[in-house]
Amino acid sequence: MSAGPVPDLVGRRVQVKVPATSANLGPGFDTLGLALALYDELEIEVLEGDALEVDVRGVGEGEVPLDASHLVVRSIAHTFARRGLGLPGLRLVARNAIPHGRGLGSSGAAIVAGVMAAKGLLEGVEAFDADDLLELATELEGHPDNVAPALFGGLTIAWVTPEGPRHKKLIVHRGVSPLVLVPEHEMSTALARSLQPESVPHSDAVFNVSRSALLVAALVQSPELLLAATEDKLHQAYRAAAMPETDRLIRALRAAGHPAVVSGAGPSILVLASDPSERAEAVRLVESAAETVWQSLPLAVDFKGATVAQLDG
Ligand code: HSE
Repeated sequence: MSAGPVPDLVGRRVQVKVPATSANLGPGFDTLGLALALYDELEIEVLEGDALEVDVRGVGEGEVPLDASHLVVRSIAHTFARRGLGLPGLRLVARNAIPHGRGLGSSGAAIVAGVMAAKGLLEGVEAFDADDLLELATELEGHPDNVAPALFGGLTIAWVTPEGPRHKKLIVHRGVSPLVLVPEHEMSTALARSLQPESVPHSDAVFNVSRSALLVAALVQSPELLLAATEDKLHQAYRAAAMPETDRLIRALRAAGHPAVVSGAGPSILVLASDPSERAEAVRLVESAAETVWQSLPLAVDFKGATVAQLDG
């Protein structure tokens, strides 16, 4: 659809908040995701004409582009274009806390921020339901497992249908205490995905079907099953050579009984601990076994997902 005239939105201003996410959770490749209480927060205002001002503070400051190629701006433009609208002038201020390139859904968060900003700026002009939001975000991200929990919060199961991506949100058992361990180096999702084989043995597929089904039960109802439920044969072993320290630490954590997995495409580690004391044990183990510096982030599960609020002009 070609972009048409922009309705008079000048002066509209919204505030958007988007959580970090951890995708895959072990066996649930491209399907399961968890929203975590660490946020990027943005303010976006519509300006006259085609002016564009982008200011990034915190994570990414001095590194990400400040023009129309900025991912949040691209996501706003994509959402407007899908409704036949051209991009208006914008002022965008981002205060980012989600680490980049670490497997914590920073690109999904930027995309969701843009979709939610567009939804807020177009309030009363265009309507977006949950499926619309997920479809718009997945079109840019390529797979729905980070953008679904970023949009809706909690634990999400995402799947793709001929009509578009769909999701089911579940509330995580309050005994689950996530711990994220973040190394200093980054990992490219594109590189990680290029290490995946085209096909896998049928027995490995069956292995992951059983663990994924069990993982949903473990996260919602039976945290004591999390170690068995976080086993995986579909992606982590294929990617291990690209993040050897992540692989080594996950093996050490699991051998000590902690349900540790690669967070998303890595290189961060997610431990789905069952209580705060288990988190502390896992931190101590990583501090003693790691050869490089790892940051420990004990994070609550975010149950709300992305929010957008109108600000006075
Ligand atoms: N499911 C995705 C992957 C998550 O592992 O490649 C990272 O974007």
